[in-house]
Amino acid sequence: MKNLVKSIIYAIAPIKLLYMKYLEHKNKKYRQLYRQFAMDITNYCNARCIFCVNDWEQSHCNMSKKTVKKAIKILPLVEDGRFCFSCLYEPTLNPCFINFLEMIPIKFKQKVFFTTNLMKYIPDEIFHRLAKVSISYINISLETFDKELYYKMVATKNSFFYDNLNRMFEVFKSYPSAPEIKFITIILKDNYKELPSLALKAFNLYRPTSHTFRTPFFSFQANSNMFEIVKRLENQLLTKEIIDNVVNDLKTLNCSDMVFDTRWNIDDYTNYLANKEQVNMNYQQERLSSNCPIEHFTVRLYADGTGLLCGTNETFNLNKIRNPKRFFSSKLNDLCKSGSHLI
Ligand SMILES: C[S@@+](CC[C@H](N)C(=O)[O-])C[C@H]1O[C@@H](n2cnc3c(N)ncnc32)[C@H](O)[C@@H]1O
Ligand code: SF4
Repeated sequence: MKNLVKSIIYAIAPIKLLYMKYLEHKNKKYRQLYRQFAMDITNYCNARCIFCVNDWEQSHCNMSKKTVKKAIKILPLVEDGRFCFSCLYEPTLNPCFINFLEMIPIKFKQKVFFTTNLMKYIPDEIFHRLAKVSISYINISLETFDKELYYKMVATKNSFFYDNLNRMFEVFKSYPSAPEIKFITIILKDNYKELPSLALKAFNLYRPTSHTFRTPFFSFQANSNMFEIVKRLENQLLTKEIIDNVVNDLKTLNCSDMVFDTRWNIDDYTNYLANKEQVNMNYQQERLSSNCPIEHFTVRLYADGTGLLCGTNETFNLNKIRNPKRFFSSKLNDLCKSGSHLI
C-alpha cells in the first residue's frame, strides 16, 4: 500500500510541477497594475480659475473616513506614483485632509501623489506632518508670479498661495524623505510671455523635480458646461505657432525636467465651438474603442464613494463593496483577460 502511494506521488509530481509553472506563467502574464487611480476627497474648491473644467453646480461633499479606508485597500493594485489622492478638486478643504494622508501605510507611500492650489492657509505644523507622510510627490498649480495676474486667473480674492509655498519649501528642506514638489502651469495669452522667467524662478527657488506646461484641455465627458468654458477662454487661447515658440524657449532653459502637454491650440477650440456635437461624438467613439490606452486600467473615485472603471465604463459604489482589494483585483484580471493590457 505504502509503495502504491509512493508511486502515485511520483507519478503526479511532474504534473504538479507543470501546473505550478503554468500558474507562475499566468501570474506573470497578468502581473498588471492599475495605471491610474484618481480619487477626490472633496468635490469643491476655493477658487474659480478661468480655465477650470469643473462643474460647480453639484452639492458639496467631503469623503468620509470609512471610504478613504476602503480606497487605501486598493493601493497594492496601483502602479508607483499613480495613486492620485486628489486630482480634480481642492484636497486641503477636506477638514481631515492630513489625517487621511497619515492613514496611508508606509510601504505604499511611494504610490501616492495629489494636486493642490495651496490657497487655503496651511499652518507649519501641517507642513511638518505632510513632510513626514512622505508620499511620492505633490503637484502644485503655479500660473504666474505676478500677484495681480494671479488673482485674475484664479478669480479669487483671498489666497495664501505664495506664503504657503515658501513655508512649505522651508519645512520640507529638513526632511530628506519629504514629498517631491512638481509644478503645473497653464499656458494662456495672459501669462505666456512670463513663462521662461517663471520656469527659472520656480526652479531656482523651489527645486521642483518636474514642471508641466499645458494648454487648456476639456473633458467632453462632463460636457454640460464645456461650451461656456470654451467661450469664456476664447480671448485667452493661443495659436499653434505661439505655443511652439513658448515651448522652444522653455526647452532652452536648463532647469527641471519639463513636460509639455500642448495638444490643444486655438484651431481645436474653434473647431469645437463650430462642431460641438461632432467633436463630442468623435471623442466618445475614441474613448470606447480599444485603442484608447490612457483610459484602460484607470479608476475614478468621487468624494461620495461612487466611481467608474474607466476602461469598461462600469460604475461602482465603494461604500457598498465589502472587500475592495478582492473586487478591484478581480476587475483587473477581467481587463487582462480582455487583452487590454497588451495595448
Ligand atoms: C483641476 S485642478 C485640481 C487641483 C487643484 N485645485 C489645483 O488647481 O491645483 C488640477 C490641475 O488641473 C489644471 N487644470 C484645470 N483646468 C484645466 C484645463 N482646462 N486644462 C488643463 N489643465 C487644467 C489645474 O491648473 C491644476 O494644475
Ligand atoms: S484651483 Fe483647481 S479645482 Fe479650483 S478652480 Fe482652479 S483649477 Fe479648478
